[in-house]
Amino acid sequence: MLDFNYMVSTKVLFGKNKIERLGEELKQYGKNILFVYGRGSIKKNGLYDSVTNIFSRNSIVYHELPGVQPNPRITSVRQGIKLCREQNIECIVAVGGGSVIDCAKTIAAGFYHEGDPWDLFLLGDSTIKKALPIGTILTFAGTGSEMNGNAVISNEETEQKLAIHNDVLRPRFSILDPTYTFTVPRNQTAAGTVDIFSHILEQYFSPTKDAFVQNRVAESLLKTCIYYGPIALTEPTNYEARAQLMWTSSLALNGLLSYGRITDWATHGIEHAVSAAYDVTHGAGLAILTPYWMQYVLSEETTEKFVEYAQNVWQVKGKNDLAVARKGIEKTREFFTDLGMPKTLRDVGVQENKLEDMAEKTVLYGDVGKFKKLGKNDVLTILKNAF
Ligand code: NZQ
Ligand code: ZN
Repeated sequence: MLDFNYMVSTKVLFGKNKIERLGEELKQYGKNILFVYGRGSIKKNGLYDSVTNIFSRNSIVYHELPGVQPNPRITSVRQGIKLCREQNIECIVAVGGGSVIDCAKTIAAGFYHEGDPWDLFLLGDSTIKKALPIGTILTFAGTGSEMNGNAVISNEETEQKLAIHNDVLRPRFSILDPTYTFTVPRNQTAAGTVDIFSHILEQYFSPTKDAFVQNRVAESLLKTCIYYGPIALTEPTNYEARAQLMWTSSLALNGLLSYGRITDWATHGIEHAVSAAYDVTHGAGLAILTPYWMQYVLSEETTEKFVEYAQNVWQVKGKNDLAVARKGIEKTREFFTDLGMPKTLRDVGVQENKLEDMAEKTVLYGDVGKFKKLGKNDVLTILKNAF
């Protein structure tokens, strides 16, 4: 196990009606807030009214930034920073999924940055020293943004989708009420489940050999997705299924699985290049790419790890290691297909003549992947195989 410092500073308020604590939590951070949300789901399911009623009851003044899109744009971030400066905002409340939360985090950091917020994505994470406090009300299980210091933003002009990571971006509190995810449509529920699954794999497939506890925790979280993902699809209001997925999403990407070992993240790097160019749903992109990444990196050197995965997660048995490893990959593909996810890049509208450009963008700042290092040609082969 490698050395690490562990700090997960987000207060999690998990369960039904935890929103009642919102006013109390906000009092610590200020009375003048920016309220960030997406394109309407919270108005349809009544959450908008609940939140604004709580603001009014607690004499909280709020300014709205609505309309944050999936694969959130730097233009929304710029708009949010402007509002924060004009209105002397003290705290940001993000109500939505990963896109809304990531937009809020970038506004929080950009508020203290003198230049354009896109600089933060180019200059490196150490540029970020300070951020406005953020509270979140999660409506979608997937990214883990509710409990981590990451934000991913797209720049349409440069066709890039880049991430920042910094502990100052971790939400101060997150309200996780699984009932808010009852209205997430079937395809989005599936995409969220794949995203959680992929976060776990990106850390599980690690070059660090001694990570026994991290591996066993990861396998339990993977099995939770395998068990509860399909239930949430067929029974959208099944509280236990929604609750299990919600908590798994937070645990999958809050450091629990990554601290003490090196992690991979190549599949996410490639997917971000795809969704930057085609605005593909993040989880759908991952469902397509993950089995192809697995097939590409499976070699004599990596077979042992794939066998561990196939045996412990999918209960594959057999004497031939390579066959067992391959069966684990097949099971992964089947799981994503059964969730209704697309199988090829062609299925989501990607054009073949864009693959080269996406491969180039993936490795623009260096090779990707730590379990298996991938250069431009490797990425291009994976993209072509997945096409
Ligand atoms: O815009 P609204 O109307 O809210 O609709 C959203 C959106 O269309 C809808 N939705 C959310 N909650 C709902 C709901 N619809 C009905 N009922 C509800 N309760 O779902 C759609 C997708 O929402 P979005 O926030 O985009 O999904 P997700 O949470 O998957 O976020 C995806 C973004 O996060 C990034 C992805 O790349 C992508 O940009 N990621 C962020 C990470 C992080 N911060 O740690 C890590 C991830 O790997 C990922 O890269
Ligand atoms: Zn992801």
